[in-house]
Amino acid sequence: MTETTFTPGPDTARAFREALGCFGTGVTVVTALSDGAPVGMTANSFASLSLDPALVLWAPAKSSRRHAAFTGAEHFTIHIMAEDQHGLAGHFAQKGDGFDRFDWTPSPEGVPVLAGCLARFDCTRAALHDGGDHTIVVGRVDRAAYRPGRGLIFKRGQYGSFSAPE
Ligand SMILES: Cc1cc2nc3c(=O)[nH]c(=O)nc-3n(C[C@H](O)[C@H](O)[C@H](O)COP(=O)(O)O)c2cc1C
Repeated sequence: MTETTFTPGPDTARAFREALGCFGTGVTVVTALSDGAPVGMTANSFASLSLDPALVLWAPAKSSRRHAAFTGAEHFTIHIMAEDQHGLAGHFAQKGDGFDRFDWTPSPEGVPVLAGCLARFDCTRAALHDGGDHTIVVGRVDRAAYRPGRGLIFKRGQYGSFSAPE
């Protein structure tokens, strides 16, 4: 096995993405209202940040057509995908609209809440921080929910599911 070593820069963008892709993550879909219309984005930049106060974060790319919608939203909901929700994740990786084909209801703040997820965090925007070509969005968690089940995993460009070692 050969190891690839490099300094991240314009010529090594692909290698940098491949190295980062070795870190397996869960998968989320973040939803908000943009000019009264539901908008969604698949994101694996989600992280827990603080227990008290309850804070989480995620990072939309500045290059995304949905960036302004998410950084401008006062309220948003982060959905942790269950292992059978790769269709939902695939949809919101491609486009931000098209909620009519999914089961959802508005939260008390009017944010679309998608059915069937493993966990959910209804958030109020607490801070925005510059993060290079992304913006770090910090959310104060107003409401959280979870259920038993297995989560969708993303690693090396592929969706999968978790299995514990024997
Ligand atoms: C598993 C997965 C995780 C992703 N995570 C992020 C993320 O954290 N931040 C982000 O900006 N885009 C992320 N994307 C890409 C977005 O879902 C979407 O494809 C991108 O915003 C497209 O830009 P557009 O709004 O210009 O169409 C992810 C895509 C996939 C498949």
